[in-house]
Amino acid sequence: NEIKIFSPATVANVSCGFDVLGFCLDAVGDDMIIRKTNKKGIYITKIVGFDLPYETELNVAGVSALAMYETLNVDFGFEIEIYKNIKPGSGIGSSAASAVGSVFGMNELLGKPFNKTQLTEFAIKGEALASKCEHADNLAPAIFGGFTLVKTLAPLEILEIPSPDDLFATIIHPQIEIKTSEARAILPKDIPLNAAITQWANFGSLIHALHTSNYNLIQRSLRDVIIEPYRSQLIPFFGDIKKAMLDAGALGAGISGSGPSIFSLSKGLEVAKNVEGTISNVYSKTAIEFDIHVSKIN
Ligand code: HSE
Repeated sequence: NEIKIFSPATVANVSCGFDVLGFCLDAVGDDMIIRKTNKKGIYITKIVGFDLPYETELNVAGVSALAMYETLNVDFGFEIEIYKNIKPGSGIGSSAASAVGSVFGMNELLGKPFNKTQLTEFAIKGEALASKCEHADNLAPAIFGGFTLVKTLAPLEILEIPSPDDLFATIIHPQIEIKTSEARAILPKDIPLNAAITQWANFGSLIHALHTSNYNLIQRSLRDVIIEPYRSQLIPFFGDIKKAMLDAGALGAGISGSGPSIFSLSKGLEVAKNVEGTISNVYSKTAIEFDIHVSKIN
């Protein structure tokens, strides 16, 4: 009657795939306990780690749970306990992990009536509460794992993209908060055609490179000429960190989601660990606190 689940952190955008591409981190995430209860409805009964609302309608995990619950015709309810490890506003899918965890757990307790795409549909409602717009580039990888491409939101269509065996991510999270809604507000409404051409060429070649495990092509495709120039200004020492990641051997680096976390991809655990050591030196020289995760992508 109860289940404990791990809801993973995720990296959205992956440089050239703004709002559509994302991947799942297996080393960091939230724990949640979902429990069936005799009382009808959805109740958030415990939140550990961060100060988040207990009111179901104001809580991301609660809103996605309600979206699913409203489609059910059952005489019981669910309690949700949230053990939050992913700091809200960190850029590694904190709200997505909450939104996904509740519906994933409920689905398990119900005997899996919903498929992964349907779970993502419910989770979009929770994510929208946090970021004030509907997007699924953090939700889809949290539910499907690996790399995912959100082809369309309406109707929701998600493509699973293969991950090369030896691909690792190193993520640094400076302890400042950037609200996704604010990081979206600073983006231009129109983009020049030549920038769009560069971006979709890189995006297409990145997808091809992931399918063919072509690390050299991954390296040459991880570029973002549209979003990064704006958002990087919100992240202290972004240029220094990115340079340090590339100097340490990473294939590429960029802003994770809407920041402030910065991700890099590397071929092999050894290089990913080398990146970890090198970038910790950059922030160690500043007053900014940070943490770093190294994760295989699968
Ligand atoms: N694609 C979204 C953005 C992810 O970059 O705004 C953040 O939630």
